[in-house]
Amino acid sequence: MTVKEKSLFICQNCGFHSAKWLGRCPSCGEWNSFIEEILEKENRPFEPSFPVQEPVLYQEIKETRKPRLHLPMEEVNKVLGGGLVVGSLVLIGGEPGIGKSTLLLQISRDLALKGERILYVSGEESLEQIKIRGDRLAIKEGELYLLAETNLERILQLAERLKPRVLVIDSVQTIYSGKLTSSPGTISQVREVANEVFRLAKKNQIASFLVGHITKEGNLAGPKSLEHMVDVVLLFEGERDHAHRVLRALKNRFGSVAELAVFEMTSMGLKAIPNPSEFFLKERPIGEPGSVVVATIKGSRPMLAEIQALVSPTLFSGNPRRMAVGLDHYRSAMILAILEKRLGRSFAGDDIYVNVAGGLNIDEPAADLGIALAVISCLKNKAMPPKAVVFGEIGLSGEIRSVAQPLSRIKEAQSLGFETIILPRGNVSSLESEEISNIRLLGVSNLREAINIIF
Ligand code: TYD
Ligand code: MG
Repeated sequence: MTVKEKSLFICQNCGFHSAKWLGRCPSCGEWNSFIEEILEKENRPFEPSFPVQEPVLYQEIKETRKPRLHLPMEEVNKVLGGGLVVGSLVLIGGEPGIGKSTLLLQISRDLALKGERILYVSGEESLEQIKIRGDRLAIKEGELYLLAETNLERILQLAERLKPRVLVIDSVQTIYSGKLTSSPGTISQVREVANEVFRLAKKNQIASFLVGHITKEGNLAGPKSLEHMVDVVLLFEGERDHAHRVLRALKNRFGSVAELAVFEMTSMGLKAIPNPSEFFLKERPIGEPGSVVVATIKGSRPMLAEIQALVSPTLFSGNPRRMAVGLDHYRSAMILAILEKRLGRSFAGDDIYVNVAGGLNIDEPAADLGIALAVISCLKNKAMPPKAVVFGEIGLSGEIRSVAQPLSRIKEAQSLGFETIILPRGNVSSLESEEISNIRLLGVSNLREAINIIF
């Protein structure tokens, strides 16, 4: 007698379960996201991922350092918290085409060259296609095995036999388990794959990477729903029209999530950029109005970036245009409103564009002062002093508020040869005990003061 099949409707956006089909997910609000999934053909007994163990007294637990594989790309080691932990499961998410396969093939190449055995499984590309990419990355020697396969059970079997040190599965959405009837990429398939790979990784001490495609809007079909199942979640981001890519950890059971690495996509693969600030300021138009250098924090890392503004009269008496690229739209609109109020000048007849150069994204209020000064610099047609950096949050009454980590922002500006910093007065007083030399700190407490000091 067969056990009754269990079927559920699952939201492919957030994983919400329902016994019947729903047009709109009550959990995440997504429309038309429910797909019927046959969960299990038979009742599988409960199988824990680890062997069953007895409880242990806290003081009897010996602390052992997890062994780690050291990758030649130092930047990646940092993001992983000091190397790739043996037997860990790492999920790496990013938009299609951003360079996930390239990054993992490079890591595989480097580890194979160090004498490790690697198994790279692709469910997306043929071996020939991978080889074309590999040629650009100059893969030559080492035990790098490739496998084009989408069946989970076969992959597990081969991995058990080959016993590689590192396993790459590219991508989790293309692999399916024969135990489930739903199609690859559905939530239950993606979870099954992650679960089984997790078990394989722990049992055989294979460090494993799962690639997950995510879309710009959100986290389509799955990767988000895997975050709690894996040890490390990495995000690989960037704009497709720009060469730089940012790798950062969203979750790390073996290290901090504050590290971040910046890469440049070249014709020979990804190249780490050891000094991102320099990279993002490379083409800055020195002495031009409308350009301001801000000291921002990405992850835990200070970074200098250029904010540009352009103010031009609105033509044909239409609605004035407001554009913010690389910055929060609402925040920029708010800063314009504060400027209008505090300067007593209306922007009703102006199109205003603000942009972060180089395709970088800034999402912290410390960039407020930079946005405001870029707009004013353009309006007044006066350039900022060439060796000045600014940071500070702007409040609704035009006050400049302190921000976190002022010292690391200052140090970054100093190391790149900047001479003046315009920053919140509150931050200056908090830094009194610090040893800061060779750089002038100009503390300001409101917008007007900042404008008077500079222009
Ligand atoms: P890919 O790693 O295939 O992206 P993903 O796996 O995230 O979908 O890389 C996609 C882009 O990278 C592709 O447009 C080609 C480009 N690329 C380079 O510019 N240089 C290179 O050396 C390689 C291998 C790829
Ligand atoms: Mg790929």
